[in-house]
Amino acid sequence: MKKIYLDFNASTPIAPEVLEAMEPFLRDHYGNPSSRHWAGIPAKQAIEHAREQVAGLLGCFPDELVFTSGGTESNNHAIKGAFFALKHRGNHIITTQIEHPAIIKPCQFLEKLDANITYIPVDQHGKVDPESIRNAITSKTILISVMHANNEVGTIQDIGQISHIAREQEILFHTDAAQSIGKIPTLVSDLGVDLLSVAGHKIYAPKGIGVLYIRRGVNLEIFMHGAGHEAGRRAGTENVPYIVGLGAACELARSWVGTTQIKDIRDQFWQLLQEEFGERVVLNGHLTKRLPNTLNVSFVGMFGAEILSQMENVAATTGSACHEGTVEFSPVLKAMGVPAKTGMGAIRFSLGRTTTITEIEWMVNRLKNIVS
Ligand SMILES: Cc1ncc(COP(=O)(O)O)c(C=O)c1O
Repeated sequence: MKKIYLDFNASTPIAPEVLEAMEPFLRDHYGNPSSRHWAGIPAKQAIEHAREQVAGLLGCFPDELVFTSGGTESNNHAIKGAFFALKHRGNHIITTQIEHPAIIKPCQFLEKLDANITYIPVDQHGKVDPESIRNAITSKTILISVMHANNEVGTIQDIGQISHIAREQEILFHTDAAQSIGKIPTLVSDLGVDLLSVAGHKIYAPKGIGVLYIRRGVNLEIFMHGAGHEAGRRAGTENVPYIVGLGAACELARSWVGTTQIKDIRDQFWQLLQEEFGERVVLNGHLTKRLPNTLNVSFVGMFGAEILSQMENVAATTGSACHEGTVEFSPVLKAMGVPAKTGMGAIRFSLGRTTTITEIEWMVNRLKNIVS
């Protein structure tokens, strides 16, 4: 049976253009980018070209970008780097209850070092009220971190409004854009952010590469100590082929942002599900302020994992898990106040550039058989 991939929020395949750009740096250009000879110079030039390509997608200066090993490292660097650089000013950080573990866990780590973290709740659609951020600010607040779009339900936050509040109070503002980049506009000037995290493997670059945008003038404590790579901000010989890949992926992503191909198929998927299942299927997340590729639905009264287990050729994600006879469902859905009966039936379908309507029609038919 044909394999169907509907898990593009988990990871994407490497785009052919990206692979092509990377290949010479896996095979021929092996020099160390720090070496000032014939072997090192092309590697260094390739990194700087990639930096410009990423800057093009984010609308920032190339020197505001630090290459990292991915979204997790970018988030860790932002949260811990800001805390250690600013702890003389205060120990309070504001974030939300629906962040990825790559934000929640660094925050929990900092709590052990006397940080005071406020986890702002969300409404039933997964939206953060910017006013609740304003109300949480204290004289000790040094950082606000709110994800641009949620990985599970796709809800997009009003980052511009929240960053405005942060700027008024001269508080550093970070957003985790791992899921939004390449899907919706992510110009740092529109978002008004000081720090922004990118994960390469969500935008058709390889796994294990990412970027942290650090606005000019913002100083974070160094996260990775060693030699002077990345203008002294992240030590370690650069992962040249992957950086080249990320650059090419960002260049490519510019032609996808704002297009409707994926959204149109996603919307048809939702419509077909509604026609087929009526009130037995519920949408999780915001109806309109949502990533164009994400469809998180609950089959009420059913168990998402059980449905997926009957479709071995389908790659999709369920937020629920069974532990010793009890069903646990996603902390994101819990924070949204989704009742257990609905939450345990959740499945996240995330579409990508190669998804076809034929695949979706097959999916709906298969779901019809399983659910009935
Ligand atoms: C919102 C969000 N942030 C961070 C990450 C972590 O990125 P990486 O897998 O590159 O470490 C992910 C990956 O799932 C994500 O969805």
